[in-house]
Amino acid sequence: MPAYVVLGAQYGDEGKGKIIDYLANDIRPVSGSKKKSPVPADVVVRFNGGNNAGHTVHNPLGKFALHLIPAGIFSPTTLNIIGPQVAVDPKSFYNEDPDNPGEFQSIQKASGLHIEDLYERLRISKKAHIIMPWHIFEDALQEEARGGKGLGTTKRGIGPMYTDKAARVGIRVCDVLLNNRNLYGRFNDLWGRKRSLFSGVYGVKQSDIEKAMGNPDDIFRRLLEFAEIFEPCFADVERLIQDAERRGAQILFEGAQGFLLDIDHGTYPYVTSSNIATSMYSCGVSRFKEIIGVVKAYTTRIGTGPFPTEIFEDWEKDFREAAHEFGATTGRPRRIGWLDLPALKYFVAMSGATKLALTRLDTLADMPELKVGVGYDCLSHGLGCELFECVIDGLVPFSQYVYINITLGVPRFSADSFNDMPPKVKAYCDMIAREAAPIRLISYGPDREQTIVV
Ligand code: IMP
Repeated sequence: MPAYVVLGAQYGDEGKGKIIDYLANDIRPVSGSKKKSPVPADVVVRFNGGNNAGHTVHNPLGKFALHLIPAGIFSPTTLNIIGPQVAVDPKSFYNEDPDNPGEFQSIQKASGLHIEDLYERLRISKKAHIIMPWHIFEDALQEEARGGKGLGTTKRGIGPMYTDKAARVGIRVCDVLLNNRNLYGRFNDLWGRKRSLFSGVYGVKQSDIEKAMGNPDDIFRRLLEFAEIFEPCFADVERLIQDAERRGAQILFEGAQGFLLDIDHGTYPYVTSSNIATSMYSCGVSRFKEIIGVVKAYTTRIGTGPFPTEIFEDWEKDFREAAHEFGATTGRPRRIGWLDLPALKYFVAMSGATKLALTRLDTLADMPELKVGVGYDCLSHGLGCELFECVIDGLVPFSQYVYINITLGVPRFSADSFNDMPPKVKAYCDMIAREAAPIRLISYGPDREQTIVV
């Protein structure tokens, strides 16, 4: 059962794009001197979230920000799958408007690959739900209505889409593909209900509703167009994945967002609307060879919500600029903090992660001294509490943590193997491995070459 999973271990933006691209290109990498020709994954599966994700990939074809399309799209021998729990926004996926190109168009432009070849490499679950223009508008209205206490969503319509899915009024890929189950009637019914919601609850003028979302006939036409263009890509993906598994194919499951944003196990309500570490089980495979948690050597968070190890110091802004810590999807500045060890241990315990991939070590290497959160100052358990659950319960006031100081103080480095790394950096990695889980990969730059296999 050669299936591998990559998950975000923190609040998203851990550098999953780099790690997923690396593994999609070489699914069973070996270290330093034993290097061999890369063996690409046979199948790469995106299994949760939607285009709220932004996986940044630097590879020989260029630099890409992938939002929905799996990272195996660059390999001609890899089948890329969008699983049943993924939120599919047709417009973000495919849009010929040069001012607002879809992801397919952007990949084509930057890589020079033919769009027909890209389609051939992609399969989309017929069970996946579709993000409609009203979901995006509703997301924005909900955020506005929360006033200063917004969740800081990506405004991609993710929450409203999953809400409609749970309310059993969503539109699925198979509904538009077959144009059945009275699709037009259901579409019109939903349109009418959303109009009433937007005008009645949020006080939006009827004329502004169409201005924001477009004319319903156009929306419906575009929906059918999407089905027509992508018809060859729609599939019963679980069967494809199970067949691949039976053949002994190498399958890579590409997680999106980070575990601490999980709707059940994250810092609710400051979370996304999907399950981060279990949605891969909805794709037809139940056993995995390795579950790799991607951990940034420090922590970042976009949007609001608890962040116990957050840094509020004068140099934080300069650090953000130097490290380019801005969201790949929204461009928003990321909040910066130290590594939070109890949170990492919580992730490992809850996700069953067998290995870690440590990213952005290069960014820390210039720092003379760094801190690591090892416990919280918890309202009920006092100083040194190691339970991340207390952060979720609100028992840890923002920014209360106990830390250890580590002197790093080494310039940026380049290394072929773990042993080549500066001793202090190795000690930092050893400490993380000892406390949380063994390290499989270390990334010290955006390019594939800047990766150490441990
Ligand atoms: P939503 O997923 O757009 O509803 O946003 C909910 C929360 O999750 C917000 O705080 C977002 O900033 C955060 N979020 C969603 N997707 C990502 C991601 O891929 N990386 C980092 N944060 C994310």
